[in-house]
Amino acid sequence: MTILVTGGAGFIGANFVLDWFSQSGETIVNLDKLTYAGNLRSLASLEGNPQHVFVHGDIGDGPLVQRLLAEHRPRAVLNFAAESHVDRSIHGPQAFVETNVVGTFQLLEAVRGYWQGLDEAERSAFRFLHVSTDEVYGSLKAGEPAFTETHQYQPNSPYSASKAASDHLVRSYHHTYGLPVLTTNCSNNYGPLHFPEKLIPLMIVNALAGKPLPVYGDGQQIRDWLYVKDHCSAIRRVLEAGQVGEVYNVGGWNEMPNLDIVHRVCALLDELRPRADGQSYASQISFVADRPGHDRRYAIDARKLERELGWKPAETFETGIRKTVTWYLANQDWVKGVMDGSYRDWVAQQYGAGKV
Ligand code: NAD
Ligand code: DAU
Repeated sequence: MTILVTGGAGFIGANFVLDWFSQSGETIVNLDKLTYAGNLRSLASLEGNPQHVFVHGDIGDGPLVQRLLAEHRPRAVLNFAAESHVDRSIHGPQAFVETNVVGTFQLLEAVRGYWQGLDEAERSAFRFLHVSTDEVYGSLKAGEPAFTETHQYQPNSPYSASKAASDHLVRSYHHTYGLPVLTTNCSNNYGPLHFPEKLIPLMIVNALAGKPLPVYGDGQQIRDWLYVKDHCSAIRRVLEAGQVGEVYNVGGWNEMPNLDIVHRVCALLDELRPRADGQSYASQISFVADRPGHDRRYAIDARKLERELGWKPAETFETGIRKTVTWYLANQDWVKGVMDGSYRDWVAQQYGAGKV
């Protein structure tokens, strides 16, 4: 048996691939374009493993995807591939439309052709699992109930709009063609292998480098945080037992303002790697201009997934963030490798050269 994973060299995809092999012998064909966010060093432990078939390519390349499907005959396709960073979508939305919208469409087209050619038993067992985000639901006011699966789509950034479009395409392929799809909408992930452009890894990396910790606006924006391995277990569970055509929200029951997150990271670093001058890393916090159109609050109601499929996160924020900070301290080589690359150009573009 084989599954096809797209975007498996990115943060969540790589964690998923590693987790999969820790509990299954089933082959993964891993299709990844290796954008700035794809990092094969994250999968170094799989070198020489014949069960991991890495293919450098684009989900939007129909003929390539058709070839891979015909050759490997996967029982499922899991779509992690995306442009994923909101700030990048503000600076340059085109890539988000190309990959998240057109790429997902091309992938769906290739999968539809393959699926329609399967025999009846294979067709009914086949799954297309689309990994999406809570950002498609828009922003909540304080006190408003958390997002359920039936919350109206109100995407506010080019990133979330492109993910919303992909969710709609996936839904339509089920409704129109009967493709057996599953969609997961998850909150903010954190954990090992997270590219240091996102809040938590950026704070860890900058703190250790003695750089400012840039907090947007007043730092009171709220996100729900889920340890990445819990997201992986949720995806496995939905793949295994999810009802075809259904959407499942995935969350950590961990709503927290950004500034609190940054203070938690600083406190852990103070404990685990104290600064030589005895000061707290929190003294490096620096308030910077807000993100345009910044969503104020996300909150996920993950009760459907718990009620119907029995999934709950294993980590609390306390345990997950400690594992995360510990991982970054123990994996400075991985961080250095990332910092040597195009990330540097991105930092200069986003925050101004020399500031961060
Ligand atoms: P990431 O940016 O770390 O990784 C994306 C991966 O996709 C990279 O390896 C990249 O090379 C690859 N990729 C990009 N364009 C591609 C293309 N056209 N063809 C093939 N591969 C391509 O992203 P992530 O944080 O791991 O997110 C994975 C998925 O989960 C995304 O769909 C994202 O929208 C969703 N998601 C992320 C979070 C989060 O907090 N990070 C939360 C909820 C949902
Ligand atoms: O909610 C799920 C989403 O979470 C995913 O769909 C996205 O792919 C993922 O990137 C993430 O989006 P966010 O915009 O919430 O994540 P980010 O880490 O970029 O920012 C988290 C919060 O921290 C957000 O309110 C902006 C703020 N922030 C971020 C950075 C990078 C800062 O204050 N300073 C920063 O330097």
